[in-house]
Amino acid sequence: MESNATVIGRGTFGFVVLAGGHPKIAAKYILKGQTAIFKKEQEAMEKLSHPNIVKFYGFGEDEYFNIIKMEYCERNSLLQILDDPSIIYSMVTAICWGEHMFAALKHLEKVGILHRDIKPENVLVDHQFILKLADFGCVRDSKSAKSFTSVGTLRYMSPETAGALGISQSTLLSDVYAVGLILWEIIERRRVYSEYGLNPFSQQSLFRDILDKKTVLSDPNCVQDGIKDFIRRSTSFYPNDRPRNDESLSFWSNLREKYGIETFLPIIDPQQKSLIRPIGFDGTLNRVALEEDWISLSH
Ligand SMILES: Nc1ncnc2c1ncn2[C@@H]1O[C@H](COP(=O)(O)OP(=O)(O)OP(=O)(O)O)[C@@H](O)[C@H]1O
Ligand SMILES: [Mg+2]
Repeated sequence: MESNATVIGRGTFGFVVLAGGHPKIAAKYILKGQTAIFKKEQEAMEKLSHPNIVKFYGFGEDEYFNIIKMEYCERNSLLQILDDPSIIYSMVTAICWGEHMFAALKHLEKVGILHRDIKPENVLVDHQFILKLADFGCVRDSKSAKSFTSVGTLRYMSPETAGALGISQSTLLSDVYAVGLILWEIIERRRVYSEYGLNPFSQQSLFRDILDKKTVLSDPNCVQDGIKDFIRRSTSFYPNDRPRNDESLSFWSNLREKYGIETFLPIIDPQQKSLIRPIGFDGTLNRVALEEDWISLSH
């Protein structure tokens, strides 16, 4: 690693640095012992090419690490954005982000891969606030949908991936489930099911309750046509009740056409100290703060 490189992220098997260059390059270092993860990510990134998927620049290695070089996303991940009060976005931003994520899923579908670990930490944000899906260490061929190991992060794991329908089974509709949860988080500006707490133990009890159908996702707080219904459907317990990628992408593209994109870019106000709900969620242009006890997104 270059001595002047800045670490911009850490993960289970390595770290990510800003490696410089024009355009700027991010380099993900994966420990050489984790060859399977590296190979999966390598094969996926070689196949993918889409404006809403992080651009791949090449591979490298040193004594200890395999290295993936990719486009640097200046605003880091969606998690940082959602948790940053100085970034005030609108429902138009949320709608465009819905379109970005489903455009990425449609490309994955075309290429024939499932992501299987979609969560705000793995959705990167570039300088222009364009979302880019990243972190392909858990991908799988979409044709071999059945798997006996459930992967991914508990909170965003679909019931069928956890084995609710017999064996653990991920399909394109499992990625739709995770995107539905992220859209809920974008509108609510807090972690989904945060009433359960955010530690690993409470995550397990949340998950048990989802599998036992003792809890259902509340509707996100917004007045826009159809969004509540879309999120309810995309996070349905049964995959066949969820919308397919074509329908989802059309839904968000139509909304974007209806509302326009003039107010897509968030306002950046360093003076703003508490999180603001998406402007327009209540049909007004008011800045409405989140309730105090909800400010607990990333911990
Ligand atoms: N291209 C990039 N530009 C900016 N930040 C990045 C980039 N790639 C990764 N990051 C930051 O580093 C974090 C970790 O990266 P990534 O998700 O790819 O690896 P990981 O989580 O270690 O992978 P795994 O889930 O396989 O353990 C991201 O959540 C993000 O904050
Ligand atoms: Mg990650």
